[in-house]
Formats: sequence, structure tokens, C-alpha cells
Amino acid sequence: MALLDKHGVIERNASLLLVLSLVVVSIGGIVEVAPLFYLQNTIEKVEGMRPYTPLELAGRDIYVREGCYGCHSQMIRPFRDEVERYGQYSLAAESMYDHPFQWGSKRTGPDLARVGDRYSSEWHVEHLNDPQALVPESIMPSYAFLAQTDLDSLAIGPHLIANAVVGVPYTPEMIENAQADMVAQASPNADSSGLLERYQNVRVENFDGNDLRLTEMDALVAYLQMLGTLVDFSAYDAKDNYR
Ligand code: HEC
Repeated sequence: MALLDKHGVIERNASLLLVLSLVVVSIGGIVEVAPLFYLQNTIEKVEGMRPYTPLELAGRDIYVREGCYGCHSQMIRPFRDEVERYGQYSLAAESMYDHPFQWGSKRTGPDLARVGDRYSSEWHVEHLNDPQALVPESIMPSYAFLAQTDLDSLAIGPHLIANAVVGVPYTPEMIENAQADMVAQASPNADSSGLLERYQNVRVENFDGNDLRLTEMDALVAYLQMLGTLVDFSAYDAKDNYR
């Protein structure tokens, strides 16, 4: 009874109630937030993750611009049905350089987290030009205009800088050569040694099959062909990978 009487004092004094409420709420907040400051890292490091090449980054931009995420996820969940269909479930580290991430929340089409290397680039170009030509029952729209649209190469340097500002480890050298590297990745007959020195495990290819132009199709297909191929899972020791 005595304790309840004391509580009455707080209930009748609005300012005191406010101050004490703030104290209680901030204790809750500190308990949640403080441990994060003492963790070295909340993302497990894995071998092979590297920042996107300029061409892949440009392709990723087109992916976002066209709203592909509205129909496709990029996040394989750790459940048996998903792993059997799409492969090793997604690791946090695989989206560590994504700003913003493309996990998605809707699968009208299949998950794309590991679509890289699954088809030829020619298949992707044909599929993006006319999905129903390859999959008659598909409801995916045509993106044929991408093959007719020159890729904007001026914006890529500043784009690397913006990513570097939010923590992606692009070096000054990568930023300086962004435009050249972007062209080199889609030109298998030109010298791509600089690109290959700066980025590991890069696919150099004339992605859209058209030698004469660097198009948005080149960039989008370069991006798709990289998805899920960076981490070498034979070297990754998954404790329970549901296989
Ligand atoms: C309206 C929904 C929709 C949108 C938007 C859409 N897709 Fe699709 N996508 C599908 C469907 C449905 C399929 C499965 C049938 C097929 O292969 O066409 C598919 C299949 C695919 C596949 C083949 C995947 C596999 O494993 O077989 C790729 C790659 C793909 N889409 C890429 C894209 C890209 C890139 C974009 C954006 C430029 C995009 N999609 C936009 C619905 C969509």
C-alpha cells in the first residue's frame, strides 16, 4: 500500500512523470544499442566479395531504375526448398556493398541471387528483348529498348565516389579509371589488364553481342552474370547449409 501511495506522487506531477518515463525508455534504448558499438563486425567475412565493377554497378542502376525488384528477389532463404531450387542460401556478406540492397519482397519471377553463369549472355539478351520468345507463358515485360540505348558513361565516376562515401572500398585508382574500366569490360578485344588488376574474378565479354555500341543491355547483362558468382563456396565452411 505504501509503495502505491508513492507512485501517486508521480502520477499527479506531469513533469516528474515525463522525466521518469524518459529515464526508463532510455535504459531500454541503451540496452539495445550499446552492444553494437562493441561488436567488431555484424557481417561474417567471406572470401571473394569485391565491390562491383563500374559496368556491373551501372547495370545494377538499370535494374533499380526498371524496378526489376518488383518481381524478383535476390535473397535465398535458408530453407530446404529454396536451397534445392536456387542454391546455397544468401549470406549477409553477399549484399555488403549494396546501396540499397535488392533483397526484394515479391517473387512474381524467380529469385535472381544466383542467376550469374546459369545462362549464356546471349540467352539473357534474347530473354530481355522478348521474354515470351523463350518462355511462352512468361508475364515479364520486354526490355528491348536497353539494347538501343547508349550507356551513360559520364555518371559512373561520381557514382563510384558516392559508393565510396558510404563505405564501399573503391580506391582512388578505381575511381580515376571508372570510365575506362566500364568500356574495357564489354570489349574482349581491347586491353583489359588494368580492369583485371583492380577487380578479381571479372567476366569480360561483349555482353549484348553488338561490337559497335556500349549499351544499357551490356551493363544489365554484366550485372546479371555476376550475381551470386563472387563467393567461392567450396572454400566456405557453412556449418549447416541445408544441402
Ligand atoms: C512483371 C514482373 C516482372 C518484371 C518487372 C521483371 N521480370 Fe524477370 N521474370 C518474370 C517472370 C514471371 C519470369 C519467369 C519466366 C521467364 O523466364 O520469363 C522472369 C524471369 C527472369 C529471368 C530468368 C530467371 C531464371 O532463373 O530463369 C531473369 C534473368 C529476369 N527475369 C531478369 C529480369 C530483369 C533484369 C528485370 C528488369 C529489367 C526483370 N526481370 C523484370 C517477371 C518479371
